Amino acid sequence: MALITGAARGQGRSHALALAAEGCDIVALDVPKAMSVLTYPLASEEDLRLTAKLVEESGRRCLALPVDVRDPAAVQEAVEQTLAEFGHLDVAVANAGVVQTGPLASVTEEIWDTLVGTNLTGVFHTLQSVLPPMRAARFGRIIVTSSMGGRMGIPEQAAYNATKWGVIGLARSVALEVAKEGVTVNVVAPCTVQTPMVQPDPEQEVPDELIRRFARHNPIPQPWIQAGDVTRAVVYLATDPGVLTGVIMEIGLGSSARLP
Ligand SMILES: NC(=O)c1ccc[n+]([C@@H]2O[C@H](COP(=O)([O-])OP(=O)(O)OC[C@H]3O[C@@H](n4cnc5c(N)ncnc54)[C@H](O)[C@@H]3O)[C@@H](O)[C@H]2O)c1
Repeated sequence: MALITGAARGQGRSHALALAAEGCDIVALDVPKAMSVLTYPLASEEDLRLTAKLVEESGRRCLALPVDVRDPAAVQEAVEQTLAEFGHLDVAVANAGVVQTGPLASVTEEIWDTLVGTNLTGVFHTLQSVLPPMRAARFGRIIVTSSMGGRMGIPEQAAYNATKWGVIGLARSVALEVAKEGVTVNVVAPCTVQTPMVQPDPEQEVPDELIRRFARHNPIPQPWIQAGDVTRAVVYLATDPGVLTGVIMEIGLGSSARLP
């Protein structure tokens, strides 16, 4: 069975459906309320219910829980509920994340805390809660969602990129801690993905000037990738026999070719 944070829509929903197709029952977590500093809406409870419905229609069970990954007790309780319901926890995808762009001078304490709270501390909470049962079972596949923003500097994206660099350090260090115990910890680092995070209004084409600017530098000339492009990497890492850990899988339209 697989637990996925930020599973109500976007990449998280795509991962949930693909892991269900691989035979996993799903625990889908997502935040129940808005974050006022963000310029776009987060998922709704209806979105979360739809993920559960789609998983169930595919023939697997789905426990959908409104959980804010910034709340360690809520994440811990969700893992306990998972174990009570399913008896084991094989895969965890720490995917929940938020973005806010703008020059450093525009990053308020509240924006910084919101980004760090979800993108970095939220992953810390998820790892801390899922690791004990995985270590006890001597099996686990953990996938952490970073970003190509976690592989390079990007102007006007300093706070977000700091969190996405941060989770790589977290994931790779924990990967080494548990490498002898049957638990792997790997990272996916997507470039811009066409999800509600960057396209809140599906009627709009590529809405954000920043995204348009990135797209001009993509070695493979397309503005963004699809959630399913990231999901293939997640499924690969989730179904790996246990020979990959501490790996960063860059899904970057060739942009990683520019990195040292
Ligand atoms: N879309 C992109 O261009 C892009 C690129 C690289 C990396 N990412 C990362 O991919 C991940 C998935 O993003 P997405 O593109 O599917 O965007 P999205 O906004 O559609 O999905 C993110 C989900 O996380 C949920 N969420 C946010 N804060 C939460 C919290 N505190 N607790 C629980 N759930 C929370 C949201 O409600 C939403 O359902 C994020 O970590 C994001 O930073 C996105």
